[in-house]
Amino acid sequence: MSNKNITISYQEYSSIDDLNPEDRDLCKEATTAMVNSHSPYSEFRVGAAVRLESGKIVYGSNQENVAYPSGLCAERVALFTIGSTYPNDKILAMAITAQTDNFKIMHPVTSCGACLQVMAEYEKKQSHSIDVLFYCQHGSIIKTSGIESLLPFAFAETRLKK
Ligand code: THU
Repeated sequence: MSNKNITISYQEYSSIDDLNPEDRDLCKEATTAMVNSHSPYSEFRVGAAVRLESGKIVYGSNQENVAYPSGLCAERVALFTIGSTYPNDKILAMAITAQTDNFKIMHPVTSCGACLQVMAEYEKKQSHSIDVLFYCQHGSIIKTSGIESLLPFAFAETRLKK
């Protein structure tokens, strides 16, 4: 038996004003993305804004369903839109934020494992790292450069081969 450690790196910003202008704009776009959230069951709105190499911003928001597992997270709504509509436009960065009328969110809301796995897939597909920003409107902002810091044990294509 041997004990092993993985070190991940990320940046924490105490205010949106401390971000570079592009990241700041993307966080604001994530707020805009929440407007179309369909979340009558959780009452938890999530917005994702993705910046492509062309400069295009693609939005996603969580889309729930009365048959609960049929719904989809904001991140995957945005990423699958890109995969199916702009497959050759590289994903440079994405910002995620959340809001609810039920309480004040004081910490950045980080993505679920399924969304991280999908981020890892597109990063691999485009051979270019993706910056991810978790933007909390009343707290700090977390930024990573690349998905590996968020999902170091991602399922990888190499596992499908001998
Ligand atoms: N949700 C997201 O949109 N992204 C995540 O990464 C985690 C959770 C949504 C799913 C559901 O509509 C609501 O948040 C509550 O779980």
